[in-house]
Amino acid sequence: SKIHEFLQGLPKCEHHVHLEGCLTPELTFQLASRNGITLPDDPAYASVDALKNRFERFTSLDDFLHYYFESMAVLRSEQDFADLAWAYFLQADADGVHHAEVFFDPQVHQERGISYETVVNGFSAGCKRAEQELGISTRLILCFLRHLPVASANELYDQFLASGHYEAGVIHGLGWSSSEVGPPKDMFRDIYASAAAKKIPLTAHAGEEGDASYISTALEVGAQRIDHGINLIQDPQLMQRVAKESILLSVCPVSNLKLQCVKSIAEVPIRKFLEAGVKFSINSDDPAYFGAYILGNYCAVQEAFNLSVLEWRIIAENSVQESWIPNERKAELL
Ligand code: HPA
Ligand code: ZN
Repeated sequence: SKIHEFLQGLPKCEHHVHLEGCLTPELTFQLASRNGITLPDDPAYASVDALKNRFERFTSLDDFLHYYFESMAVLRSEQDFADLAWAYFLQADADGVHHAEVFFDPQVHQERGISYETVVNGFSAGCKRAEQELGISTRLILCFLRHLPVASANELYDQFLASGHYEAGVIHGLGWSSSEVGPPKDMFRDIYASAAAKKIPLTAHAGEEGDASYISTALEVGAQRIDHGINLIQDPQLMQRVAKESILLSVCPVSNLKLQCVKSIAEVPIRKFLEAGVKFSINSDDPAYFGAYILGNYCAVQEAFNLSVLEWRIIAENSVQESWIPNERKAELL
């Protein structure tokens, strides 16, 4: 349709995609075979189709995270990580993405005996290739995991600082993700205070399954952007502040539907955010698991909200303005 063509052609920035969330059932089986890895003894892993079927019925964030962390076991070599990133960038390019800020989770790989360097070298090779061959600008964002002990995150943070990856422009920012409700809201307070003092860009998953207080805590400890953030509508005062301070929410509508955070895409507060002047971008989160890359998310929003061309231009412009890139790159994207 005409609007689909318009959305396809709209220059897009992605701010919320986990590279490990781009591991499709097909690639999972391919890499398992390439690396001689036995997949988990779970009927969900009986075949590519069985795994695809299981992905059709996640009951919660933690139900999804179980498969997300299990499937990662097929990633072993630098090449595996580079191939996974490349698979994402090819799809992003087809969807009209010009700039992508991508998350990755070193801790789970380290727990399985893969070194920090292997993970970073592989993913950053994928990013470099996307810049060179597709002209997509990229930002690699390291995520700390909320389901693991703080000590594990502290160790990774020390490794990150010692690596010089931030100064070298290999890793551009830090985030946190994984289980929201349960672990302490402010568990990475010390890491974020230290990183903020070094002017490292900070984001945080908050207000996905958790209530608005997870968002206020994330902001209090230094997050400058909020991943998901849909439960911001529970707190009108906080919503006003987020609008006033131009804090970007990286919203993932299809993810919210698939993880049963909302009953329909129409329940994602897109219209309320637009009306309140809250800046947000529309993103894919874990496209291999949720069945939609960024364009699928744009189209799902259009079907649910029937936005005007002007509203789409505002969304696209905000997503450029709030990207973690220099003004010269913003000017190219606008
Ligand atoms: N929320 C929290 N952690 C995650 C997600 C998510 O949507 N995707 C991958 N890790
Ligand atoms: Zn996410």
